[in-house]
Amino acid sequence: MANCEFLNNKGTFKLKNPENNSYMYFPIANEAGVMSSITPTLNGDCKMNQNTFLLAPVSSEELHNNKSSRNFWVYIDGLGAWSATGVSAAQQAEAFSEDKEETELEAGIMWHKIARESKKYNIKSEIVSFVPSTDDKIELMKVTITNTSNEAKKVTATAAIPLYCRSADNLRDHRHVTSLLNRIETIDDGIIVNPTLTFDERGHKKNTVVYGVVAATGDGEKPVSFCPIVEEYIGEGGSFEIPKSILLNEEFKVKANAKLEGYEAIGAIRFEDAIIEANESKTFIVAIGFGDSKSDFNSIAESHLKEIAFDKLLEETKAYWDKKINISYETEDKQFDNWMYWVNFQPMLRRIYGCSFLPHHDYGKGGRGWRDLWQDCLALLAMDPSGVRGMLLDNFGGVRFDGTNATIIGTKQGEFIADRNNITRVWMDHGAWPFLTTKLYIEQTGDIEFLLEKQSYFKDLQVERGTEKDTLWDLSQGNKILAENLEEYKGTILEHLLVQHLTAFYDVGEHNNLKLHGADWNDALDMADEKGESVAFSSLYGGNLADIAELLKYLRDVKNVKNIDLAEELQVLLTGNNEVYDNVEEKQNILKDYCNKCRHNIKGKVVNVDCDKLIANVEGKANWLKEHIQKNEWITNKEGYSWYNGYYDNNARRVEGDGESGTRMMLTGQVFTIMSKTATVEQVESIIKASDNYLYDNAVGGYRLNTNFNEIKTDLGRMFGFAYGHKENGAVFSHMAIMYANALYQRGFAFEGFKVIDTLYNHCNNFDISRIYPGVPEYINEKGRGMYNYLTGSASWLILTVLTEMFGVKGEMGNLAFEPKILLKQFDVENKAAIEMNFAERKLKIEYINEGKKEYGDYRVKEIYINGEEYKFSEQPVIDRNVITSLDENIKHTIKVVLK
Ligand code: G1P
Repeated sequence: MANCEFLNNKGTFKLKNPENNSYMYFPIANEAGVMSSITPTLNGDCKMNQNTFLLAPVSSEELHNNKSSRNFWVYIDGLGAWSATGVSAAQQAEAFSEDKEETELEAGIMWHKIARESKKYNIKSEIVSFVPSTDDKIELMKVTITNTSNEAKKVTATAAIPLYCRSADNLRDHRHVTSLLNRIETIDDGIIVNPTLTFDERGHKKNTVVYGVVAATGDGEKPVSFCPIVEEYIGEGGSFEIPKSILLNEEFKVKANAKLEGYEAIGAIRFEDAIIEANESKTFIVAIGFGDSKSDFNSIAESHLKEIAFDKLLEETKAYWDKKINISYETEDKQFDNWMYWVNFQPMLRRIYGCSFLPHHDYGKGGRGWRDLWQDCLALLAMDPSGVRGMLLDNFGGVRFDGTNATIIGTKQGEFIADRNNITRVWMDHGAWPFLTTKLYIEQTGDIEFLLEKQSYFKDLQVERGTEKDTLWDLSQGNKILAENLEEYKGTILEHLLVQHLTAFYDVGEHNNLKLHGADWNDALDMADEKGESVAFSSLYGGNLADIAELLKYLRDVKNVKNIDLAEELQVLLTGNNEVYDNVEEKQNILKDYCNKCRHNIKGKVVNVDCDKLIANVEGKANWLKEHIQKNEWITNKEGYSWYNGYYDNNARRVEGDGESGTRMMLTGQVFTIMSKTATVEQVESIIKASDNYLYDNAVGGYRLNTNFNEIKTDLGRMFGFAYGHKENGAVFSHMAIMYANALYQRGFAFEGFKVIDTLYNHCNNFDISRIYPGVPEYINEKGRGMYNYLTGSASWLILTVLTEMFGVKGEMGNLAFEPKILLKQFDVENKAAIEMNFAERKLKIEYINEGKKEYGDYRVKEIYINGEEYKFSEQPVIDRNVITSLDENIKHTIKVVLK
């Protein structure tokens, strides 16, 4: 099997002949904003944002279609030209023949090394690429050419990196005209391009970015000549795969300090002819990047174009990321532990690339969505919690007073931008995520006072939950809701959460479930804005309301908070009883009344609400929702399977159950009814049976998102236009599958939860079918291929699930609780399963010891030892936070948890 083979426990892996697989790409990037994608033949791109692409943007199809990749040529005297990246017409023609050159990839976090050997030319290349973890806006490449023959070879080496240097928009919008903007200059070390203007959606503006390529030999010899213009480099009738100037080894005429204008550019950099002795090598360093001026490239050349500097920076970069990835696992399955190392890294990638800048992710212009904001915090809470409090607080500033939220998220933390395009879209799930993250934060830290922190509300044109416009508002008023006295109003985080959940509670369709609006978690359920309902998310909101009530009880009982300040307007949403809740129209009127009260400004008056009453009201609503769903949405089909219906379509028809062409079942409704405890234990068992029967498919990695409806259901969403088994239409969609695992574990169904994760992992790990590098992809397609690798929110959920559910290492109001749900087969030969992680700013290694070899369900936590010393606990295995914080911050501590 051509599996990726791990070489250590830092995620480094090896793969033979990687270019024999299509659509492979690898991320190398840094926090200074350089985002590259790189393929086994060094195709891919490099950019800082939508308008600043150094290499031309590539979507997945360009990965096999694009010739303008990073290349490095050696012309061997007497033999001809050879591409060290394998991108020459001649080498590619051998792809499926016996003469195919052997290649091997070795890669780790943010670095990529590809080796290639030609038996025909007796030559070998090894190219290491990485983006340093420093502030440098560069991608570096070290090329080592080895003469594998018994005789010396005379070689002419040329780095050839096509330079696009403009906005992604210009790919098919003034591609030629924008090349006329190019001002190209050769310097001693390479070629820089400083286009005069930018032509893109921002209008015509003076360009400030300088792009460039500089190169030197490993011992610091500078290049001798250049060929910066594409058409001269490829020659009449040539191409990047058969560049005439290379194939005929023509002399490059341009020397340093030349200026050229108005053509497509290429960083074609020629080195002095060199003799490479038998079995000896010659090394070249190439840096491509972004600067503000020519002198930036002089400095790049000065500091980076040396082999020693390159190697040092590479090691520093490896260490940097390794330090960041501070969770690791030890189970019986070492491959799984290593795979999880990559999963741990994925949320960091998503924070850098957003959802727009890898080849499958060719939509959007780089911004992150509301859901991502909150989801990414989940992983941060596990790995780097220091800034999370501030981040959560800032993010709550995106909530509108009608419970919806800003959808255009600025680049700065807490920056939300008014939607001037007047596009109103409300995702009805958005209000539910902030609470999940906040709850996790409070559990991990015990910082319940966070609920009483104050934050402003976002204000723009949209009112009444996306159904109306506030004509009185304009940007001059600013993006914050004001009180009548025109001062900015701030309410507590608790109030924000109540606003989100209470408005949702009243925002119902004719079946008295929460309206679907523009979509829920499933972005592709986007065609049922009028009458669609999401039972799935109704149950999540219900579960959240119950948990909000629990937090309020904690505030009351432990923190002695008897009254809560809330904006006066909110009282409207705190009236009502079951009779009112049963009445759709009355509910809608209440919501309307509330929305009218906060349409433009709000009063700014605060009322003091009795905590008991608030708890009773919130709990009443939670219970009502749960009972309503239990009573109305539990369905049984002709074949005798039962599960929860998750949706109503735009004709107000129930979506799931027996369909004309087979059973219609969706996973989402099951996940959230289980997670919110709407489903009883017996119901969970039935759901598992139904899911196993209708949704489970081992060939594609587990639980599909839905069965095949065999209908282009235009009254529900565009997903039904997708081919079945792809993306949101019935693929194994990692995010929802993992949330299914999470929900099952939460309810104590550890074997079933494990099955979900294990099948998904095993599938991804089976390279022959999944054809992805280690990591969890967004989904598995009908053929079993992993799709949209790296930038998926599911990674955060997987980390969370493995940490808090599988390993059961949980925060309990700041204390550290152990509730392991590890299966017997997951313990290693020493009957141990361990996790390293941070908690309360302490580095901990938690080792579960299952000496009696008991199965989950049979073992209990019996003893706890901190650094060898027994820690006595009363009933529940929980370590007091003070005990953890009294441990030395600078060293790792071992907590042994004995199971018996
Ligand atoms: C993507 C989106 C996520 C959305 C999901 C389903 O999933 O990022 O917000 O809920 O599709 O439409 P991801 O790629 O994060 O797994």
